[in-house]
Amino acid sequence: MTDAGPPPESGVVWLLGRPAAEALKKRLAAQVASWSGPRVPGLAVVLVGEDPPSRAYVRSKVKACREVGIASVQINLPDTASTSAVLSAVEALNRDPAVHGILVQLPLPRQVDAAQVIAAINPAKDVDGLHPDSLGRLVSGRPGLVPCTPRGVMTLLDYYHIPVAGRRAVVLGRSALVGLPLSLLLLHRDASVTVLHRQSPRPWEQTQQADIVVAAVGHPGLVPGAWIRPGATVVDVGITRTPSGLVGDVSPEVAGVAGALTPVPGGVGPMTVATLLANTVQAAGGAVDVGA
Ligand code: GUN
Repeated sequence: MTDAGPPPESGVVWLLGRPAAEALKKRLAAQVASWSGPRVPGLAVVLVGEDPPSRAYVRSKVKACREVGIASVQINLPDTASTSAVLSAVEALNRDPAVHGILVQLPLPRQVDAAQVIAAINPAKDVDGLHPDSLGRLVSGRPGLVPCTPRGVMTLLDYYHIPVAGRRAVVLGRSALVGLPLSLLLLHRDASVTVLHRQSPRPWEQTQQADIVVAAVGHPGLVPGAWIRPGATVVDVGITRTPSGLVGDVSPEVAGVAGALTPVPGGVGPMTVATLLANTVQAAGGAVDVGA
């Protein structure tokens, strides 16, 4: 796959994440600044090991916190850490009144039981929205903390006035982090949602009918132009590191077919970070208008 820039003849609307993320961060900064007294939202990020992409993600999250007035702490544990060592770190953060949000960066090293760690987070501080309590709230449509990338995708669609209600949406991928929660959010907004995965036969028969296609698989260039109905909206959540840079799940030729498309990088990525900040402000007691 080559450079993901728009071909010159393409009339596609690029759904750039940065302006939508900046607009959200501006609202959050104003909200935090308006709080009286010593009430500062606090985020703790737990990083286990030295994985360079995870370290880079955590750096960008900590930097974004500073931009809106959120206090952040980073807890680093060695890549040999046991499940009980990670659990101890989470439990200390659960007890810390200055910490309103806890994020355990994934993936965790093999020897750590990720499900046990996520379940140990106080659900009121679960800014990743991955705790079973948070997912249960999402399923039943009760208010709660929603996973950052899916919530960020909804904010992005709203920012660019892409209609959702009554539209056909296809979500490629069913991960707990993206595909599954995003399909619920789309459903709650009255889209007709089809979720496809590696066992789905003839996926193009579904995507070709869709008004909105979201690719969240992590398979570079999986979605060719022929899978897309002309004028459809395509959201590319996949990010794979290759020797030639970051590559999405959507082939570059889709820009010549779609009506609107998120670039990789610079599409959904900035929304994930901004939404983490929104979730932290929400966990600290703020009602957050993400524009979604
Ligand atoms: N690793 C990649 N994306 C995410 C995310 O949204 N949350 C966490 N905790 N880890 C990740």
